[in-house]
Amino acid sequence: MTSGGDAAGMNPAVRNAVERAVALGMKPYLIYDGLKGLIDDSIMPAEEVNLSGMLCRGGTMLRTARSKRFLELEHRERAKDNLARRGIDKLLVVGGDGSFRALNQFYSDFGIPFVGIPATIDNDIAVTEYCLGVDTASNVIVNAIDSLRDTGTSMRRAFVVEVMGRDCGYLAMVAALACGAEVCIVPEFEYDLDSITERLKNRLHVERHSVFAIVAEGVKVGDYLTRMFNDNLGVDSRMTVLGHIQRGGSPTIYDRVMGYKFAMEAVNALHRGEQGKIVVYRSGSGFDLVPVQEVAEGKSTVDPVLMEMCRPLSV
Ligand code: F6P
Repeated sequence: MTSGGDAAGMNPAVRNAVERAVALGMKPYLIYDGLKGLIDDSIMPAEEVNLSGMLCRGGTMLRTARSKRFLELEHRERAKDNLARRGIDKLLVVGGDGSFRALNQFYSDFGIPFVGIPATIDNDIAVTEYCLGVDTASNVIVNAIDSLRDTGTSMRRAFVVEVMGRDCGYLAMVAALACGAEVCIVPEFEYDLDSITERLKNRLHVERHSVFAIVAEGVKVGDYLTRMFNDNLGVDSRMTVLGHIQRGGSPTIYDRVMGYKFAMEAVNALHRGEQGKIVVYRSGSGFDLVPVQEVAEGKSTVDPVLMEMCRPLSV
């Protein structure tokens, strides 16, 4: 099952999970539409589904949905019955911490074990350094900003680009560094608009042919900053909200390979009889399994080196 916001890399993960499960002698099923499909019985034996062509597709071919109904015991009971009728006794969910918490509740209710794979473009899940979809979304963002730089430079303009990330500034920070932005504003640290304006004054006319400010959606400062550039910097300014385009696109090689690796770890863990664990990835130690509570209750942190490099762009 894929659940929560879609992310590139979900399809490669699903495909390899099916292959791995079959190789281990298990009989995999696919649950469509996330938790909603679990309640509404949108479940198919994987052997009846043609998975070819799935690897290069963005989003999730299993579709996904956020379901408030799963919070109610009555609906979770329906979900349990749907699984029991087919003899499904383990779950693998590719999604975010909200989905992990939901399945942990499901385990407390009915004892059905699950393992999770973190997937969200926001890269804001605790304990893991990488979530499926982040590399693809970062590349979509960087390509879009490079295009904006072409027009911005041609017309000597300032661009404020708002990127996704919910309350996390990871995407904004990597984009700002990769695109050589002059400004980066994220929820992780304080910013000073007056000193930013002072720093950029005249610069557009002397050293730079364009100015780029990358702002994380969580700060909600994009409109204000654009007006400020217009008024106080004396430069024609435009704002671009990249929006849901950031969630689409064919998964990068990295997301495909990580999808495969996460899935292999997850299916192996289920096969060994693990329960309530999330597969996490850390650059020092590689893949690991951690209890869902650690992930669901923990706080995600952004790489301090990345933060240190971006901090000067906020003042
Ligand atoms: O969590 C992924 C994400 O794309 C966030 O970056 C964004 O804030 C949110 O989902 C958008 O949610 P929706 O697709 O429901 O508009």
